[in-house]
Amino acid sequence: MDQTKMPLVEALQEYTLNHKVSMHIPGHKDGQGAEAGFKNFIGENVFKADITEVHGLDDLHQATGVIKNAQQLAAEAWGADETFFLVNGTTSGIIAALTAVANEGDKILIPRNAHKSVNMALIISGAIPVYIQPEFDYEHGIIGGLSLESVEMTFRQNPDAKAIYVINPTYYGVCSDIEKIVDIAHSYGALVIADEAHGSHIYFNDKLPKGAMACGADASIQSTHKMAGSFTQSSMLHVKAGSFDAMKLKTNLSMMQSTSPSYLLMASLDAARSNMAINGRNILENLIMLAEQTQIKLSKMNGIECLNKTIIGQYGISDFEPLRFIISARGLGINGYDLYEKLYSDYGIEAEFADDLHCICVLGPGTQESDFQKILEAASDISEKSHSSMESVDPPLSFPKTPPALMKPRTAYFSKRETVPWEKSLGRISAEMIIPYPPGIPVLCPGESITTDVWNFLDHYKKDGRHLHGPINGTLDFIDVVV
Ligand SMILES: Cc1ncc(COP(=O)(O)O)c(C=O)c1O
Repeated sequence: MDQTKMPLVEALQEYTLNHKVSMHIPGHKDGQGAEAGFKNFIGENVFKADITEVHGLDDLHQATGVIKNAQQLAAEAWGADETFFLVNGTTSGIIAALTAVANEGDKILIPRNAHKSVNMALIISGAIPVYIQPEFDYEHGIIGGLSLESVEMTFRQNPDAKAIYVINPTYYGVCSDIEKIVDIAHSYGALVIADEAHGSHIYFNDKLPKGAMACGADASIQSTHKMAGSFTQSSMLHVKAGSFDAMKLKTNLSMMQSTSPSYLLMASLDAARSNMAINGRNILENLIMLAEQTQIKLSKMNGIECLNKTIIGQYGISDFEPLRFIISARGLGINGYDLYEKLYSDYGIEAEFADDLHCICVLGPGTQESDFQKILEAASDISEKSHSSMESVDPPLSFPKTPPALMKPRTAYFSKRETVPWEKSLGRISAEMIIPYPPGIPVLCPGESITTDVWNFLDHYKKDGRHLHGPINGTLDFIDVVV
């Protein structure tokens, strides 16, 4: 196929050039009814291209024209048999795919550090999660990959599992051995659904970790917006033929997405695909080289560490995605959050996020050579101005055992619940998900028992004022439990 073609972008351009009298939504009518200052700021063409299912522009939910053509080009580019554009992020694709493979009572194998959309899929479907604890790299304070032993053992204990969900790569660039996991899963007749929210680009340069579709996975859901240059919220779901109940998958996708999908988002997917297919290899080649050089230079600075390929080979880590800087300044007594704030306030660098130990910077096709210089200058300045110290940054706490699940997530979520003071929650069944950051692994999911081990661990986190994702009461003074 001709990957220079952008059927959706071209159709959109043509439609906007041949102005029609609009008696169709959206109501701003090519921006004529838009607020003037906003239009001035955002640009006229954004409004002109913000149209819906008009003549020649196809329908995402029943694609037969330009959207279908654009999706077919994407399928070829990512090595899939069929691709679906998503306008509600990878979140919607994960929910649609998992609910298509597992019904009420079916089992799905899930690494404990799964994205929260997986939990939503469990609540919607009534499927039973069988958690696999990823390895934890205490030396660097990051979650590692899935060991093949734990995957094999979990399948042996649950040979009836319908699917395994894997992350490739994680936010920290960590990849498990997807090829071998696919072999294990397929030998048990289970599907492999890959969360490649951070991996849409890895298919376009051999120096990057291998993409899940190339490893034989049955589906990959990718945030094209995160790493391949489309607009925020636009993602893709790629599938292998025959692996899914096609009708169910399509119906689920329709349920998870707006009936008025944005053509700006979809056209940006079409353009990002063409750019990656045509120019991706070269763009990435340069970025990989600069990123790897920068990681080494950062690690040589006094008190600074930056993760790089040397983490491969331990803790279930079979590969590392290099277009990110996982920087720690713990050798200077600076924790991840302070480093994140410092980079922003003193050096104008907006990093992606922070945990106790690290500040995480994410690169992308738009990263400029000068940006590498800026992070090096900032880190060097921080390193020179600070004094070496190992004292003020606490290492991550050792993690409690996964508590017993006394109910399915769905049952717990829809059960009658009450809000109780944290001090009175020991022994109750959680109706909430609680995820300490770091390491980003849920300690409690809906339906799980609040064991002494878990309670003590979370109590320590709470008293320490550490970050917790998930609880309705952010400081965990109260928690929702099942009545
Ligand atoms: C591992 C992982 N999966 C899924 C998602 C959801 O992606 P999206 O924001 O495109 O919905 C994220 C978002 O950060 C993520 O980190």
